Amino acid sequence: MKSIRCSFWICAIFLFSSPAFSTEAPISDATLECLDCHVLLHPGIVAEWEKSRHAQSTPEAAVSVEGLSRKVSAESIPDALKMTAVGCAECHGLRPGAHKDRFEHNGYALHVVVSPKDCSVCHPVETDQFSKNLMSHAYANLAENALYQKLEHSILGKPAFKNDRIHQDVTDDGTREEACYYCHGTRLEMEGIETRETELAGKLEFPMIRGWPNQGVGRINLDGSKGSCSACHTRHAFSIETARKPYTCKECHMGPDVPAFKVYESSKHGNLFSSHQAAWNFQNVPWTIGKDFTAPSCAACHVSLLVNADGAVVSNRSHQMNDRLPWRLFGLIYAHPHPATPDITRIRNKDGLPLPTDFNGGFATAYLINEKERHRRKTAMQAVCLNCHGTTWVQGFWTRFENTLVRTNADIRTATQLMEAIWEEGLADGKENPFDEAVEKKWIDIWLFYANTIRFASAMGCGGDYAVFADGRYMMARSLADLADEWRLRKGLPIAP
Ligand code: HEC
Ligand code: HEC
Ligand code: HEC
Ligand code: HEC
Ligand code: HEC
Ligand code: HEC
Ligand code: HEC
Ligand code: HEC
Repeated sequence: MKSIRCSFWICAIFLFSSPAFSTEAPISDATLECLDCHVLLHPGIVAEWEKSRHAQSTPEAAVSVEGLSRKVSAESIPDALKMTAVGCAECHGLRPGAHKDRFEHNGYALHVVVSPKDCSVCHPVETDQFSKNLMSHAYANLAENALYQKLEHSILGKPAFKNDRIHQDVTDDGTREEACYYCHGTRLEMEGIETRETELAGKLEFPMIRGWPNQGVGRINLDGSKGSCSACHTRHAFSIETARKPYTCKECHMGPDVPAFKVYESSKHGNLFSSHQAAWNFQNVPWTIGKDFTAPSCAACHVSLLVNADGAVVSNRSHQMNDRLPWRLFGLIYAHPHPATPDITRIRNKDGLPLPTDFNGGFATAYLINEKERHRRKTAMQAVCLNCHGTTWVQGFWTRFENTLVRTNADIRTATQLMEAIWEEGLADGKENPFDEAVEKKWIDIWLFYANTIRFASAMGCGGDYAVFADGRYMMARSLADLADEWRLRKGLPIAP
């Protein structure tokens, strides 16, 4: 019965013989209506929801949970939502006045894009923390930074062969949405309402949303809020297990510019995760080191509430996710202390460029966290390690890691000196766009791919060959040699010393 598409009248019959839903919490009348149709339309969605915590608990029961295993951080929940499962109508009908994609649907005012602000009705702490994370600002951090826009243009611009050169014209929206903004998030905009004939319910109205579908971390939503919780809490299971597994992060943190997953996968921690995850528990809250798992996933080091065997808190959960990060590895163009605010569009280096470092390797210190805050964050990260490693191990690791930051920054400085010499001599046109010529791309490879890869491998437990031959030190040395030859050739200097 569930697999057939039916006419309006056949469906009217189904409406009177609704299938029973296996949820532990009572379902609101409104959601029962949604389910009647949507179990036929979208059995995948309904099945995931049925298994989710949202279908198994009422907000009233959830706020009465005391201690660390409480999942709902709101102090109080609006009466209308308290006593029933969190169902289709509860989420898609929340705050109806706030959403530009509001549409009338079978007697209900709904919206398609359930935003972080909607989730914050019940999960305000997580939403507030996430707003302090670079991820929730990932749209503007890229789209509103003039220099990064040049980098984007050098990659996505439409190439045309004109006057003996490649010129890049402005790219199209489809390409931007599918490339950079797939991860960084798009800006959603209402285009209007369209009426479509549906098999199940006749003529219905639907919002047409530019930039959607998209679940990028910094998406600008139709209620003005930033981000998408479903980047990690995939709809409609919204499962903590999914979020705790590294595959969730892999989708965006894969490289070669940001190879966190690659290095993790080939580290000892990643190996232990792959070998033993079937025997680990990814659902328990709080998460007990030793009992639930014995090697960390991304979430364990960066996000999770962790306790030790005595139930004592080792680290607090944080959706801010940078509060264990003293350094920013991603070099723009050098690794540097972490930015003090997640909106990095305001940063200016000493040359007035919107970058956290200048080309000489200096830091835009006024916009970055200070020594005291770095110490606090380092201690928070090391508190996690110290449950499975001794102090000597962790300190030895950290000394090498910070040495790698200093060393890769020095390598980038050398590459940048060569690049600057090429620009200054007029041997490349750096002014218009410092990222688009072939020689500039050799320089970019050095800081964007190789230096980053070496640092990520160093930070996340030494990811096998990634720090050396595969996108690591070998490639760095090779590109530096290429860049030096390029300089001598362009300058007319003999290649041999
Ligand atoms: C009489 C049947 C019916 C009822 C009742 C119903 N829907 Fe729908 N709904 C539909 C149909 C048909 C579609 C279109 C499906 C498609 O195009 O794939 C749809 C689409 C949707 C969409 C997607 C809109 C889009 O633009 O992609 C959402 C969200 C939705 N419904 C939520 C709900 C919620 C929440 C309720 C309960 C308050 C509900 N629906 C009740 C029939 C129904
Ligand atoms: C906890 C809140 C929540 C609940 C409960 C919920 N949804 Fe959603 N729904 C979302 C979110 C979040 C999205 C993703 C929107 C986005 O970020 O683009 C979504 C997306 C959708 C979409 C569009 C996705 C697609 O792939 O086309 C449909 C249709 C939909 N929901 C229907 C339902 C139905 C039917 C139910 C009840 C079984 C339901 N939702 C329950 C939050 C919820
Ligand atoms: C009306 C209140 C309400 C809204 C709105 C709501 N939730 Fe929940 N959420 C709950 C309740 C209740 C639970 C289950 C609590 C329990 O089991 O103790 C829960 C549990 C969760 C969990 C834990 C799941 C697990 O596997 O342990 C996540 C993650 C979550 N919600 C994310 C979201 C996201 C993302 C949104 C917005 C798209 C959202 N919630 C909207 C009430 C809500
Ligand atoms: C597969 C997902 C993904 C895609 C596609 C992607 N990025 Fe990113 N981007 C990331 C991640 C993840 C980070 C942050 C990495 C980190 O913090 O280590 C990031 C960070 C950045 C930053 C640094 C922003 C800051 O905080 O200063 C820039 C600039 C950037 N990306 C540019 C681009 C451009 C340009 C494109 C398209 C050509 C693009 N990205 C496509 C995932 C992506
Ligand atoms: C949909 C893509 C996407 C997913 C999924 C994703 N990230 Fe990110 N993440 C990004 C982007 C893009 C940035 C960089 C934003 C910027 O610099 O403006 C980022 C930045 C970060 C940062 C730096 C935050 C800060 O404020 O310094 C951390 C840490 C991080 N991600 C961890 C994770 C973890 C852990 C997971 C998995 C549980 C994950 N991310 C899943 C896209 C994603
Ligand atoms: C970058 C990935 C990522 C994004 C985006 C994200 N979360 Fe989470 N979330 C996680 C991880 C990982 C955990 C598991 C934390 C733990 O183990 O303690 C988690 C846990 C939760 C929990 C706790 C569940 C429990 O059982 O106690 C809630 C509630 C939650 N998230 C809500 C949200 C909301 C609301 C948003 C959007 C504002 C959001 N999350 C965005 C990764 C993410
Ligand atoms: C053993 C703990 C550990 C694990 C596991 C781990 N990380 Fe990290 N991560 C670190 C450390 C340490 C740093 C560097 C701290 C700093 O930058 O100050 C870091 C840095 C980062 C950053 C910041 C990068 C930047 O540009 O500043 C991101 C993003 C990140 N990790 C994502 C991930 C993802 C995704 C995974 C899983 C695939 C993961 N991490 C697994 C410990 C870990
Ligand atoms: C939940 C336990 C756990 C946590 C937390 C943890 N590790 Fe590990 N780590 C392990 C185990 C187990 C191994 C494998 C030991 C072996 O090879 O015998 C390992 C291996 C390593 C290795 C690989 C060394 C090598 O030479 O193969 C490094 C480096 C490392 N950890 C650093 C860290 C750092 C730094 C942190 C914190 C940011 C951390 N670990 C957090 C369990 C953990």
